[in-house]
Amino acid sequence: MKTSTKYDVIIIGAGIAGLYAALHIPKERDVLILCKDIPWECNTFYAQGGVAAAVDEGDVESHIKDTLNAGAGLCNEEAVRVMVEESLDVIPDLIARGFDFDRDDNGRLQYTKEAAHSRPRILHAGGDATGRYLHRFLMKINPHPFIYNARVFDLLRSGDTCYGLRALINDEIKELYADNIIIASGGVGSLYAYHTNSRTISSDIHGICLERGIKLDMMEMMQFHPTVYVDNPWARKQLLTEALRGEGAQIVDEEGRRFLFDYDERGELAPRDIVSRAVFDYKKRSESRVFLKMDMFEEEFFAHRFPNIKNALAGLGFNLPHDLVPISPAFHYAIGGIVCDLDGRVPGLENLYVVGEAASTGVHGANRLASNSLLEGLVFGRRAALRLNTEAFSWSHKPPFAEFKGALIEKDDTILKQRLRRTMWQEVGIVRTRSGLKRALDFVDDVQHLTIGRLLALRLKTARNIIESALARGESVGAHYILNE
Ligand code: SIN
Repeated sequence: MKTSTKYDVIIIGAGIAGLYAALHIPKERDVLILCKDIPWECNTFYAQGGVAAAVDEGDVESHIKDTLNAGAGLCNEEAVRVMVEESLDVIPDLIARGFDFDRDDNGRLQYTKEAAHSRPRILHAGGDATGRYLHRFLMKINPHPFIYNARVFDLLRSGDTCYGLRALINDEIKELYADNIIIASGGVGSLYAYHTNSRTISSDIHGICLERGIKLDMMEMMQFHPTVYVDNPWARKQLLTEALRGEGAQIVDEEGRRFLFDYDERGELAPRDIVSRAVFDYKKRSESRVFLKMDMFEEEFFAHRFPNIKNALAGLGFNLPHDLVPISPAFHYAIGGIVCDLDGRVPGLENLYVVGEAASTGVHGANRLASNSLLEGLVFGRRAALRLNTEAFSWSHKPPFAEFKGALIEKDDTILKQRLRRTMWQEVGIVRTRSGLKRALDFVDDVQHLTIGRLLALRLKTARNIIESALARGESVGAHYILNE
């Protein structure tokens, strides 16, 4: 790795958005991709359901409408149109490059249905291992070098230019310069006690942005997935894809009753925010456990269609599709993020881009339609790369980094981090109250005054921004549900 000169482009993150952006930057350019850990530790790798895409020209308006309906009036309609229309380019592009989505016996693409889609339009691969297959494929055809174990903990911003970044790379602090930087670092999962995200997703870059005067938007919109097995011993809880419900799985209580219909006539296929809140509320009020019931599937079909879930749950002692699996909602996706335009450009900065879950493009509004996120990563990753290719921004005067003082981690950080996660889950979760949000704010402010490392300080900044955004939106909408208590 060179550190004395600068790169043309540095991409922070190697999920679908970062890798698809990289693929569209010519290999002659000096590009470096930074992975915080091993490259497959990203949310893309763990995505199960699939990629939502307009099935053909005739489905465009309907996909747009479903996305806008799920977004509860807060989507950027132009961004939604761009995403859906360009799904007709990026899916054929992936196929032309050799990616195999699942097909039926006649060789036709198989589409599944997920909640709040008015028709089946979710492409999948490896049954329920879409993210893993896509990630492996994009890694294989990626034309640019990677560095692993690169934890970014500062951006060098001066005026309207982002000159570089500071990162801990294999335990050494390095300063890297670049003409252009693309942030593709994902969301905020590790801020919550229960989440479905990769362990690397911890909101550091959001915290840096806040510190460097880069705006975040819609941070109150944190999406919870309704069907997660949370009793495994790991930080990442086991997702049970919405495609299971799309294809017939049911949510039942201890008596086997499908109680969701008490909350919404669409039952298991109501939008994800409604199902999450219903499960949360029902568990609390009835003190009953809640289960995902899958025994309506034939064994052979299930093993073929959901092999990833079958194997993961077998490791946890379940025999699927026969056994009931206890479920809870868990944090799943950050709808809000770093403000950008439709080409991923961060306003006020000449050469900083953001794509994927880290970005706030406005395509999800108040509630993301299932499986629109991999599509967002593809469409806006490509747009950012194409824009960057044509603008060829370059700077010549290199400002120095300020000296880094302090520690990245202090001795009590692990305990404080766990307390932060519990606080975010309890007070800034599925159902919020004004009093709970204020308690969370007090907690964050107290911890900020302790001797803590920089990495925890960055998480706290992001957490504070989420809490303040939640307090600022007094009305419930989409994923943000607030009681004025
Ligand atoms: C799932 O497979 O249920 C998750 C899909 C998504 O988050 O869009």
